[in-house]
Amino acid sequence: MKLALLLAATTTLTTGLASAEEPDKSAGESLFSTSCAQCHGPSGKGMASFPSLTGRDSDYISSRLMQYRDGKKVGANSGLMIPNAAGLSDDDIANLAAYISSEFQ
Ligand code: HEC
Repeated sequence: MKLALLLAATTTLTTGLASAEEPDKSAGESLFSTSCAQCHGPSGKGMASFPSLTGRDSDYISSRLMQYRDGKKVGANSGLMIPNAAGLSDDDIANLAAYISSEFQ
């Protein structure tokens, strides 16, 4: 029993590390097109009160998404963004940040 628990913990840790080191950009792309593009635009340029996501590095994007996921108010329109970040997993955030920072210049 103890061994099984240890194995389970080790597997979780290894999987977590592997995905944190190698974000999946194509998963980020498909998530972006279904959940984010309607506000931020298909190439992240934004429109009206929806900010542009171009020219940001992945640390910036992921830290913003974590703040919104935690329900923190960042700007005047955070109320529109918080519900969209609420359901994101750590992997989702890493994948989105990798996609956005590399594709939206
Ligand atoms: C309903 C429209 C809407 C959707 C859908 C949406 N966002 Fe946003 N997003 C906003 C608004 C509005 C802001 C500005 C919030 C503020 O004032 O703090 C924002 C802010 C952001 C920021 C911070 C930008 C900056 O310059 O600091 C990031 C990053 C972001 N969104 C990424 C995403 C991602 C990734 C998704 C998809 C999971 C997404 N958004 C879905 C409306 C939206």
